[in-house]
Order: sequence, then C-alpha cells, then structure tokens
Amino acid sequence: MDRIRIRGGNELNGIIPISGAKNAALPLMIASLLTNETLNLRNVPRLADVQQLQRILRNHGVDTALSGKRAGEKAQSGENLSLTAGEIVDTVAPYELVSAMRASFWVLGPLLARCGEAKVSLPGGCAIGTRPVDLFLMAMEKLGASLDVDNGYVIAKAKNGLVGNRIVFPKVSVGATHCALMAATMAKGETTIENAAREPEVGDLADCLVKMGAKIGGIGTSTLMIEGVERLHGATHSVLADRIETGTYAMAGAMAGGEVILTDTKADFLDAFIDAMDLAGVDIETVENGLRVKRRDDLIKPVSIETRPYPGFPTDLQAQFMGMLTMTEGSSSIRETIFENRFMHVQELARLGADIKLRGDTAIVNGVRELRGAEVMATDLRASVSLVIAGLVAKGDTILHRVYHLDRGFEDLELKLSRCGADIERLSD
Ligand code: UD1
Repeated sequence: MDRIRIRGGNELNGIIPISGAKNAALPLMIASLLTNETLNLRNVPRLADVQQLQRILRNHGVDTALSGKRAGEKAQSGENLSLTAGEIVDTVAPYELVSAMRASFWVLGPLLARCGEAKVSLPGGCAIGTRPVDLFLMAMEKLGASLDVDNGYVIAKAKNGLVGNRIVFPKVSVGATHCALMAATMAKGETTIENAAREPEVGDLADCLVKMGAKIGGIGTSTLMIEGVERLHGATHSVLADRIETGTYAMAGAMAGGEVILTDTKADFLDAFIDAMDLAGVDIETVENGLRVKRRDDLIKPVSIETRPYPGFPTDLQAQFMGMLTMTEGSSSIRETIFENRFMHVQELARLGADIKLRGDTAIVNGVRELRGAEVMATDLRASVSLVIAGLVAKGDTILHRVYHLDRGFEDLELKLSRCGADIERLSD
C-alpha cells in the first residue's frame, strides 16, 4: 500500500493550482441520472471518489466519457466528463458500491424522480441512527414516495411520480438537500425546501439543474423553491473551485512559511475561514486569478473556532486548522458541532508531538515549540491532510500510511506541494 514521506522544514513558495470541488462534482455527476441527454462537466477533479461514482452510475446504465488530449494541451487533462443516462437499466444501488462512498446514497432522489422506484443500500449497511439517513427518507416521503427499509436497503416507490410538497429539515444536511433538490426538479407541482444547506456546492448543483431546464428559486439561501418540470435536458457546466482544497493549501503555506499563490480559486465562500486565518496572523489577499497567502509573523497565533454549516467555519477544514495550530505560543480551542467523532486526527497529531486535550466536542490545542516526524495513519480524508500540514514543519521524516484516504479528495497532492519546495514523495511497495 502507498505511503507518503514528508521531510519537514522547507518553506513553501510558488503557485498551487486549485482543482474543481469534489463535493460539487459528485452531486453534479449524480444529476446526470435526471435526463436521457448528455451532461458535460468541466473542471472535474481527478480523484478516486470521482472514479468510484462513475462505476456506480455506470451500473445504472450511465455512459461516461472522459475527453482526451486537446490541441494546445501538454497532456490529456481528463477534466471534462460527459455522462449520458440514455436509459436507466437498473434502479438498484448495491451495497458493495454504495458502502465505498456515502454520497452515492444520493442517487435515491434522481432515480425516484425519473423511474418512480429505487432500491439503494444504506451507506455502510448500518442501522439508521448510527449513520443517519433519516432526513433523506423524510424528504422522499414528503414528495410522495413510499419507503421500506429491508435487509440494509431502502426500497422507495412512487408509481405515479413524485408530488411537490413543503420539506422542512430539522437539521442542516448537505446530502439531504442535494437529494431532495434533485428529486423535486421533476416532481409534479411546487416544492419548498426550508432550512436547506447553503453550502456553495448546493448552489453549484442548483445552477447546473437550472441549465438542464429545472425551475429553482432561492438559490444560495436556506429556502429553495422548485417548480417541477416534466423533463430535464442536457447541459454543460463547469464545477466550481474546491474551497476546501483552497483552505487546505492556504494552511499548508501558512504553516511552512514562504508565500504561495493559489490559482483558479477565489475568496468567495471562504469568509469564516479567512477571518480565522487573519486572527491566526495569516494574510489571504485576492490577486489576479487567485489568492496570495502569507504568514505575518514567525509563529501562527492561537485562535478559537467552532464548526458550523455554511457560512460558518467548515467542518471539512477543522482537522487541517488543528494541524496548523499545533505550533503556537498559547492555547486554541476547536469545537466540532457538525459530526460526532471527527477528532480521529488528534491521536495521530499527538504522535508528532502535538499537545491536544479532548473535552467532549471540543479540542484544546496547547501550542508546542516543535513537532517531530513519526509514522502516522490517515483515518479519513480531511484528517489525513492535517497530518501532511503538520509533517511539513515536523523535524525529520513523517511517514503517512493509508494514503488512499487522501487520494479520495486531493488531486496530485505531492506534486502540488513539491513544486513549491516541500520535500514530499509517495512510496509505493
Ligand atoms: C457533506 C460533505 C462533507 C461535509 C459535510 C458537512 C460531500 C460529498 N460531503 O457530507 O465533506 O463534511 O457535508 O459539511 O459533499 N445527518 C442526519 N441525518 C441525515 C443526514 C445527515 O442526522 O439524514 C447529520 C449527519 O450525521 C451530520 C450532519 O447531519 O451530523 C451533517 O451531515 P451532512 O451535511 O448530511 O453531510 P454529508 O452530506 O454526508
């Protein structure tokens, strides 16, 4: 299994291109199920999750094509993905495919809308409650689907089609909002989704659905209003820049010192993060086609944050922020309010010498003078990149195991960092 070796101590100086957002690309790809015409997506990141979702969609009958090298390109970039669901040949999303990626559960909405039926494995096959999908099920029932949960599968039916309704989410869920929005585009009549997630990736999906012929109002707000249409058509849409990748490399640059320019991205959608970075003593300035990141002083300053749904501080940047706060003169607190148990990186950061105490949903990070390289394990996507950030300044070698977590969400990580001067390489057995 691949590992990544990082020898800490080098500054980062240079340009890091930001890819399209994984969390936008996945729902956009799933939206292809809603039409028999082709959906062309541009700026699709080359990630393991994108490949896995293609497998899942192909199982439903979707043809997928990545375009080849184009005139003027040095190499085939593979960022243009065409998806055509001419005919849905299978409305079952089996356990072996869904369990590999939670987001694939979201096919429930479009399959119901287009075919009037879907049988989708619960993610991870766990009971509802431990990895809840209650909000998805509530939304599909509101739209008139009858639901059964049997043998680890959700079996949903809407023989005469879905019917618009008022859906009020008791809690903000990105996935349930995506799923309900896609389903409602083809439900009869009007749907309102209240307390909808406002994450920019939801807005990106809504914009694409509008290009496909959907009628959606309130995009970017917590109330989405959808007037169902009979059919959607093909469209071409460019995936928005990855704000999580942007934030991650901003923190890597701040941690390592030096000056990095993040291109093909913008400050929009990162207000809460940029404010927190300012408090930490890091300037993030808009420049042509991107952002410049530079630490003001020798050390990062301690900061306290709590994660919140958008526009709050994103949970997907929490682990990295903790990694960055390990070396300060003082104490920071990080409260995680979105996910339980999203502190798996704490014990791995401790292996590098970080001093972090956990109290319920809050981690107290007491800054240390130095980190030392060690063997560490990636436990999930965002946790693993927090170890890379800490590894960039740790003395000696940090070896990161279970790199496949990183490959799910960070395109060309070693390349992007090494081009800016990091001593980082992938070790393959
Ligand atoms: C998405 C993102 C993930 C991000 C998260 C929160 C993708 C592919 N993933 O995940 O990177 O960390 O948003 O910003 O876009 N919940 C319920 N019942 C449900 C559904 C969710 O209780 O039916 C809970 C979850 O357990 C969690 C909270 O709601 O505590 C938010 O989860 P949600 O927004 O749904 O996350 P995802 O869409 O899975």
